[in-house]
Amino acid sequence: MSTEKDIYILAIESSCDETAASVVKNGRCVLSNVISSQIELHKLYGGVVPEIASRKHIEKINQVIEEALNQAEMTLDDLDAIGVTYGPGLVGALLVGVAEAKAICYAKRLPLVGVHHIEGHISANYIENPDLEPPFICLVVSGGHTHLVAVKDYGTYEIIGRTRDDAAGEAFDKVARAIGLGYPGGPKIDKLSREGRPDAIQFPRAKLEDSPYDFSFSGVKSAVLNYLNSCQMKGEEVNRADVAASFQQAVCDVLVEHAMLAVRDYDLDKFAIAGGVASNSTLREAFARACEKEKIQFYHPSPIFCTDNAAMIGVAAYYEYIAGTRHGWDLNAVPNLKLGER
Ligand code: KG4
Ligand code: ZN
Repeated sequence: MSTEKDIYILAIESSCDETAASVVKNGRCVLSNVISSQIELHKLYGGVVPEIASRKHIEKINQVIEEALNQAEMTLDDLDAIGVTYGPGLVGALLVGVAEAKAICYAKRLPLVGVHHIEGHISANYIENPDLEPPFICLVVSGGHTHLVAVKDYGTYEIIGRTRDDAAGEAFDKVARAIGLGYPGGPKIDKLSREGRPDAIQFPRAKLEDSPYDFSFSGVKSAVLNYLNSCQMKGEEVNRADVAASFQQAVCDVLVEHAMLAVRDYDLDKFAIAGGVASNSTLREAFARACEKEKIQFYHPSPIFCTDNAAMIGVAAYYEYIAGTRHGWDLNAVPNLKLGER
């Protein structure tokens, strides 16, 4: 019988346009997951406006935390630590979460655990997959990041591939805007693609000779823009569903090919995806097929744990907490924080 005490962590996430709080028990059991999204507000501008994001976080953060505690049927007195995203992200947005976490820790004399946002995305996979343990390869695909990561142990990461230009989600958002779908574009392209042919237009699949795991999405994005321009010049009607499906296929092909190469080279039998773009239905199907072919286990979080949320931060904070990570009163927001830095 285990005599170990349960560990309850309140986690806070405010790195971009979601104000989120969650209570996580023993690292894998999510007791509450509250997300206040600002998407409706930023939609008006076609993308996230940093100052508006910060202002909205400061307005919402206390209510979101209270709701997370209420849903978990807990009070601040029941907590063992506070986990908070301190980078990477928008500096003004991060500062709101960091200041809030520090204030609670100071008032309640609780340990403060700063979390890297990408470590959070990767850790989202632990929530619904109790059997998942490192080592594995994880592809993090979000609006701000495209990283291929070798997860060697809890808290130990090696970035083996990254985008040289646009993040995958950014490319989805830009192409969506070009075909008039609005922000955020990823889910809209995903939906429209179901009515189009993925082989209708051949868009480029970038290969970088010097680094087989790196990505580049600016070429495919420009190819879509050029295609739209040339149709307009010739007075041809654009089949938006075909453009969406063909673009999506080009992005998915590259992501799958590079990720499977990493899985083979690192000789690992587990592969996971994470981040907002990991909700993409074509990408999930493509990885499910590829992993089956490679005879490896495929892991992916539910969509609610793919987009920014605090539950994933709570999971990452737990593993940092049990490894002894504690941050001081001088913890600051670090907009370009590198994975693995403390
Ligand atoms: O992880 P996330 O919520 O925020 C960042 O940390 O960036 O990711 C947001 C990104 C946006 O670019 C959005 O368009 C994209 O994820 N996204 C998708 C889908 N759902 C969200 N992209 C493709 N297909 C989707 N279903
Ligand atoms: Zn994110």
